[in-house]
Amino acid sequence: MKTITSIKQHKGKTPLTVITAYDALFASLFDQKVDIILVGDSLNMSFNAKPDTLSASMEVMLYHTKAVCAGAKETFIVCDMPFGSYTDEKMALHNASLVYAQTNAHAVKIEGGMSRAHIIKTLTQNSIAVMAHIGLMPQYVRSEGGYKVRGRSEEDILALIEDAKAVEEAGAFSVVIEGVVEEAAKRISEAVSIPTIGIGAGKYTDGQVLVWSDMLGFFQAFQPKFVKRYLEGATLIQNAVDVYVKEVQERRFPEASYTYTK
Ligand code: KIV
Repeated sequence: MKTITSIKQHKGKTPLTVITAYDALFASLFDQKVDIILVGDSLNMSFNAKPDTLSASMEVMLYHTKAVCAGAKETFIVCDMPFGSYTDEKMALHNASLVYAQTNAHAVKIEGGMSRAHIIKTLTQNSIAVMAHIGLMPQYVRSEGGYKVRGRSEEDILALIEDAKAVEEAGAFSVVIEGVVEEAAKRISEAVSIPTIGIGAGKYTDGQVLVWSDMLGFFQAFQPKFVKRYLEGATLIQNAVDVYVKEVQERRFPEASYTYTK
């Protein structure tokens, strides 16, 4: 199982592998295969059919984090702090403490760079490990008026580098860089000594994270450019269910081998 120390040692070395999970069953399939499991608030979209992540609550994140921890006992687990749960230091410390008190998660994740550095500092000074998240931040979708790829101008690249430096200075042990052009993500990664974990940020980060239901082809509503599908999960399931329905309707299931006899 990874620790904060061994995660930090990946800087500039073998990329960290990170995948999301929301329940015990799938977490158990990913256990010991990836370095980190993230209980992302993306569950609000992929599991709860909501248009964005904003309505995920602390209660929901705690419920899913408990389930993931039960399923993946040998993997480092990070719980995403939902929108509105860390608007000031006191609230952030209260809610992040709930994650440690009620679940076995090893760290929390917080969206925001310079503007959230004071929150990250409060948590890390109170012994709560924080993964930061900069670049395209899904919790800002409504205030920003959409999902916008970052790092297209020199000015924006410099702002992102300042964000990364601020979260490192505040004590974050790693930082997710989402939706950033590859060259910008490379420069951000070179500017900090904590591992950067990219999603839609090209190949030069110190790790990669993908949402499990995207990369295994279960979420079909849309497919962002950066999502590579390693499985066509939805199609496989739908085909299997079609066969089941047909076999039941034609009284071919259950066959003798699936039936109790005297
Ligand atoms: O909520 C989530 O799944 C995330 C990843 C996209 C990094 O924050």
